[in-house]
Amino acid sequence: MVLKVEPVVECVEAVRSLASEPGHLVMLTPHGRKLEQSVVEELATKKRLILLCGRYEGFDERVRQILTPDEISIGDYILGGGEVAAMVIVDAVARLVPGVLGDEESNRQDSFSGQRRLLEFSQYTRPREYRGLSVPDVLISGNHRQIADWRDRESALKTQQQRADLWANKQTRSQDINNETKGT
Ligand SMILES: C[S@@+](CC[C@H](N)C(=O)[O-])C[C@H]1O[C@@H](n2cnc3c(N)ncnc32)[C@H](O)[C@@H]1O
Repeated sequence: MVLKVEPVVECVEAVRSLASEPGHLVMLTPHGRKLEQSVVEELATKKRLILLCGRYEGFDERVRQILTPDEISIGDYILGGGEVAAMVIVDAVARLVPGVLGDEESNRQDSFSGQRRLLEFSQYTRPREYRGLSVPDVLISGNHRQIADWRDRESALKTQQQRADLWANKQTRSQDINNETKGT
């Protein structure tokens, strides 16, 4: 079963006409560009998003041709429908809307975010010791410079150990920046 072209196109046109801002149309599809934090950040800059979810075998190809949506996939697997994928986008984008998080700084420190785009450093809370495992001394030292250095090192180490692909990307990006600076 394939979703027909006329009702989908006309529905999107009707929704668009409801506001002065036509809205950025996202089609949830396994054929789209992969959702990553950088894509979430891009979507968060849009004034209005319209999320188009498929079901069954997906959309008649002409929906894509007529509406030219921003096609986005949440990963290389098949869901029963686009609704859950749309919820993923809503949740990830909403966190970036000013005022949604209590502390905006945490957005910049989160995994895949900020300048570094690495995994976040390990987090601890009370108790100070549990089953022989302790919170690292530096974190309770009160020395902000040392804590920041520890977090930077921890974040780099974690990324190298758990996401070698992210680490390799970062090395490539740094190399590109160096080459640009040197004019090569
Ligand atoms: C069962 S899927 C259709 C799969 C399609 N026949 C194919 O093989 O590419 C039905 C709908 O779920 C949504 N969907 C499934 N997997 C998705 C993914 N990885 N990312 C985003 N949306 C997905 C899309 O909206 C799609 O139209």
